[in-house]
Amino acid sequence: MSKKTLKFPTGFFWGTATSAHQVEGGNVNEWSEWEKKNAKQWTKKARRHWKKWQQEKFPEMFQPANYISGQACDHYHLFEKDFDLAKYLGHKAYRFSIEWSRIEPKEGKIDQKEIEHYRQVLLALKERGLEPFVSLYHWTVPIWFSQKGGWLNPKAPYYFDRFVKIVSQNLFGQVNFWITLNEAMLCAGASYLRGTFPPQKRNVFKFLKAVNNLAKAHQLAYRSLHLIDLDCQVGIAKHNIYFKNIPLAEYFWNNRFLNKIKKEQDFIGLNYYKHHQFPKKKNLPVSDLDWEIYPKGIYYVLKDLKKYNKPIYITENGLADAQDAKRAKFIKDHLYWIHKAIKEDVDVRGYFHWSLLDNFEWDKGFWPRFGLIEVDYQTLKRIPRPSAYQYAKICRENALKL
Ligand code: BGC
Repeated sequence: MSKKTLKFPTGFFWGTATSAHQVEGGNVNEWSEWEKKNAKQWTKKARRHWKKWQQEKFPEMFQPANYISGQACDHYHLFEKDFDLAKYLGHKAYRFSIEWSRIEPKEGKIDQKEIEHYRQVLLALKERGLEPFVSLYHWTVPIWFSQKGGWLNPKAPYYFDRFVKIVSQNLFGQVNFWITLNEAMLCAGASYLRGTFPPQKRNVFKFLKAVNNLAKAHQLAYRSLHLIDLDCQVGIAKHNIYFKNIPLAEYFWNNRFLNKIKKEQDFIGLNYYKHHQFPKKKNLPVSDLDWEIYPKGIYYVLKDLKKYNKPIYITENGLADAQDAKRAKFIKDHLYWIHKAIKEDVDVRGYFHWSLLDNFEWDKGFWPRFGLIEVDYQTLKRIPRPSAYQYAKICRENALKL
């Protein structure tokens, strides 16, 4: 790489992403109930699952409290302070999710005070000049919905659509960008194929059924959102992996879902974390989760998405790195390849780093640290990591200096 400045397009959205259950605290949903049941047993699983260096570095994985979201980052109460930090760090946009179980804790009963909460969240973003990108499903569902069979229930898309309509009617005019579903394939796969997420099933037919219902849920929500607000932009956040020389996996994992909803998306949200290459690449650096870091993969994935001819936002990209030893380079290297894709006419319009804050990493709990900002879970103190300032410079200059 030569010494130069890579300029990003004017109006590029620089930001970060979070999701309700991972940061808010105090949620009561299918996941919160499941965590409580499993916490103890996961401390035992940790011994088998993680490598020695990870076990030594993160002994909290052996404590049940690690696996219970509890008050998380208390972002539910501290959101204004968190947005002050995001603004101070030069961000221009923020992606977050609205928690269905707060809005509709019992079927058909809408909690107006929670709607008001999210109205305040949106106002706070506006006051700070942060453009909201709002996700409507980021893996957590109300308990009543899961009791009805969750995404396997043929009526599931209609239940979701009913929730979406309520949210969009009530928040009319406050949101320009909606993300209906976050990583539908990944979540359905973990729930119904790998059996690692609730309801922990392993059945390919159930997996396919859930995926079909999720696609239908998106299609209904797409129409409803546009009926309520003609001008809004609607898409999904899709977890695409760079597969080298594995075309079937590429089709099945990366393209199949996008093909299903081809006619119902105004943009594509890309979450990029992983690559699978055959033959395997050797000696790549890894994150605290032992995920290999392969920035060039984002370039290939973006080039593939070009065929859909839609604007693209990188809705997630990040790594678990408690020491913050690799994050700044990780960001710069990925941005280098994103910029190259833009130069080659891929219409990328924003980058959301995962994540603003350390947060609750699902079945792994709190030990993986994804935040630009460190969170002390005892005191709830926020401390920006050095990489947060490096990212801030890029956001403010709308450019990457090599
Ligand atoms: C999810 C996030 C998660 C991140 C890191 C993404 O697949 O959308 O919720 O925290 O990956 O694992």
